[in-house]
Amino acid sequence: MTTENPIFGDEDTSYQAAGGIEGIQQLVNEFYDLMDSLPESEKIRSLHKKDLSDARKKLSYFLSGWLGGPKLYQEHIGSISIPGFHRKFNIGSAERDA
Ligand code: HEM
Repeated sequence: MTTENPIFGDEDTSYQAAGGIEGIQQLVNEFYDLMDSLPESEKIRSLHKKDLSDARKKLSYFLSGWLGGPKLYQEHIGSISIPGFHRKFNIGSAERDA
């Protein structure tokens, strides 16, 4: 692998392209800020806890490992199945789209 032509998904190239943990945190913060403020997100916002700080931390940890970086979710919280975890919520097409 050369640094000029990184292949996405190869080792931690996707994590690097996302800007490492700082880039991921920025993305996650913007995502939850939008969820917290857009009227069209009200329904899925209401599925989340009032305080979003845990959600921000957990999604950042998860995406770090998913993008080939440090497996922070596994290290700090444990193993997770994303579909399994979400099964307890009522997520239909409208919630998915929102
Ligand atoms: C399809 C739309 C989705 C909806 C409506 C949804 C909704 C939720 C809700 C309600 C929570 C609980 C938050 C809380 O406890 O306050 C949650 C947690 C979480 N979601 Fe999603 N989610 C969706 C898709 C995804 C996707 C695609 C991913 C991964 C890329 C993801 C990753 C996570 C993670 C890591 C957590 C935290 C798990 C934990 O508490 O340990 N979600 N989500």
